[in-house]
Order: sequence, then C-alpha cells, then structure tokens
Amino acid sequence: MPEIPDGASGGAFMQQRIGQELASLREISQFRTLDIPAGIDLSSNDYLGLASDPRLKAAIAESVVRSERVGGTGSRLLSGNAREWQELEAEFAAFAGTETALYFGSGYSANIGLLSSLLRPGDVVFSDALNHASLIDGMRLSGATKVIFPHRGTAFLEKALREHATGVGARLIVTESVFSMEGDVAPLAEMLRLGKKYGAALMVDEAHATGVRGPQGRGLATELGIEREALAIVHTCGKALGSAGAFVCGSRALKDFLINCARTFIFSTATPPYFAGQIHAAMALARAADSERAHLRELADELRASLAAAEIDCGASSTHIVPVILGSNEAALHAASELQHAGFAVRAIRPPTVPPGTARIRISLTSHITKDEARRLADVLRAASESLGKSRSASVAHG
Ligand SMILES: Cc1ncc(COP(=O)(O)O)c(C=O)c1O
Repeated sequence: MPEIPDGASGGAFMQQRIGQELASLREISQFRTLDIPAGIDLSSNDYLGLASDPRLKAAIAESVVRSERVGGTGSRLLSGNAREWQELEAEFAAFAGTETALYFGSGYSANIGLLSSLLRPGDVVFSDALNHASLIDGMRLSGATKVIFPHRGTAFLEKALREHATGVGARLIVTESVFSMEGDVAPLAEMLRLGKKYGAALMVDEAHATGVRGPQGRGLATELGIEREALAIVHTCGKALGSAGAFVCGSRALKDFLINCARTFIFSTATPPYFAGQIHAAMALARAADSERAHLRELADELRASLAAAEIDCGASSTHIVPVILGSNEAALHAASELQHAGFAVRAIRPPTVPPGTARIRISLTSHITKDEARRLADVLRAASESLGKSRSASVAHG
C-alpha cells in the first residue's frame, strides 16, 4: 500500500497508486488493452450471427422511424415507460415460457438488480464457483451469506443445503445454465430437485443459452421443461440475440417486486423504445434459426474431437463454447498470438476472469464460422500446443 508522500495532493496519491497497480498487472501478464478484433472472430458472443444481419438492421431502422422519440427520457417508473417495452416484455415472457418478463439495460444490471433486491442479510445463497461476475456482485451487495459450491458439484451443494435447511432466512441456488468460460452445462434438473427437497429456490442465468439451447432457442430451462419451476431466469439479449439488455423472467409477483425494489431498474434511464423493435425482430430470427443451431453443434463437436485427439484440454465443454485450457498466462498469450497471426481474432482469458492456473483461449463458435475455418483453427492450436510442449520439456531439461 503506497503511503501518501508529505505535501502530495490526494490526486497525486491516486495517480501514483494507479501507476503501481498497472505496473503489477504488467508484471503478471494481466495488463489488458482495448483492441478492435481483426480476422475470423472467435471471441464474439454473437452466436447466431444476428448482430450483422441485414434483417435486424432493417428492423431497427424501421423502429427508429416509427418511434415517437429516440431518447429514454427517464426511469421506466417516471417518463421512460413505453407501450413498445410492455408489448415486448409480454412477448419475451412467452418466449421464455414464464408468466412475465422485465427488461433491464444490460445482463449485468439485471443480475445485480435481481440478486441485491431478492436477498438480504440472514438469507443463504448457494453459488456455483464459476458463476459470472455480475451474479457474484449481486450476491455480495445483498449481504446474504454466500456458500460457494464446486463447479457443478451437486454432492457438495446437497450437503450445504442440508446444513442450512433449518435457518429462518430464504435460500437461493444461483447458477448459469451454459457456463461462459467452460462451455459446459449446469445440472439444472438436479439443482431444482435439491432445492425442492431442502427449501431453496433456483435462479438461472441463461446468458449463453438464450437463442442457442432449447426449442427455438428458448433456453436450457425450456429444453428441460423447468422454466415455470425456477424462481427467476435471466435471458440476455447482447449475445445470440445480437442486441443488448436482458430480461428477468418469472412470476407476476417477481416482476412487481423488481419494479419496486431493484435499484438498477429504478435508478436508471429506460432504454429508448425503438430498441424494443430490434429485440422483437431478433427473437423472431432466433426462433427460426434451427439450421444455425445445428451448424453450431456440428462445428463444436468436430472441433472438440480434433483437439481431444491432440490431447488438448477442453474441459467438460459440450456446447458452442470451447475452452482451450493452457494453464499459465504466458502459454495462453503464446497460443493467442499464434492464432492471431493465422488470422483468428482471439484473446487470452486470464485470472481473475478464470481461476488461477487455468488461463485459456475461449473459443466462441458462431454460425458465421465455416467447417474449413474450424479445421484450420484446430491445426493452428495443435501446432501451438506442440511448440509449448517442446519449450516446456526444454526448460525442464535445462533445470
Ligand atoms: C453469464 C453471464 N451473465 C451475465 C452477463 C452480463 O450480460 P451483459 O453483457 O448483457 O451485461 C454476461 C456477460 O458476459 C455473462 O456471461
């Protein structure tokens, strides 16, 4: 911790601390910069390719022209509400298979608003170890007691639920459905069963499943037929729906509660009504995208098979997100640079985004990627992994 130098202003102290923290990030290869992706994009969450779809562009252009105003003007509780949002929320609830849906300007604010308002000190929240930062921050803000269970670890979860079964507060299990960094899938049905057995509700973040999993891309909860049994399901629009924002889906009472108590909903300017037109069109396109979803499945299965043949660790991925787990930050940076040279836009994902020692390249497949490109990608990764293996054995040999 730097000390305030005598006579230095508070601003100088802050600047000095910023400089020191940036220097330590550089030292441990965790300094990040903002780059514009160039090449075949393998880090995009635009899974169905909708973000650049001319039909979606046309929809938003028409919606702008139709709209009375193009500004948000205020919170939805004040001047910002609009017929467009109310209609879209009803439509989205039908998509998610829930009674209602409430739109937030981002998935981050949806998760924070939901968890920080639902939970309070005295409650216990059970959270998968690999849950997204927005879920973690929402739980932290709530002041509830947090029990972190190992990733997808239902045996640990059951033990923890049993231990906390007699408390007076509420209990909530929080999980993603498709995990953003692992590309694996939560055991939602088992979590729901355990929740029922020990009196805990279930909240599911479908960010990486929306548009991709389930009938017509309506999410993993609908694939399993449990969408009415979860307390809340969050679907984001910034990934496969090629748009932005998120819906918290659940009961009428949950929606009323969030409108009254979720601070990120209350104290934030509404998204302009024309944007509802884009999400409306994206939903229709996503519903109809069965061939894109099939293509994604085939791409991912082939890629995993060829990486497995080269003994490259893809974790337990079973979806369109394929992690290539390389361990050290340096190894991940090396592989990222090889891929970039070969024309693939990827970024090394390092702690704290992923647990220490599991730095990786996160390959996020989208329907725009061809099978030939995916094969070339596997070739480059195989070569990068071989050269890393060689340099590792050389450094071991040199002691
Ligand atoms: C699992 C998960 N939940 C929530 C979010 C946040 O959504 P948004 O990007 O719309 O803020 C993300 C974004 O990366 C995510 O991966």
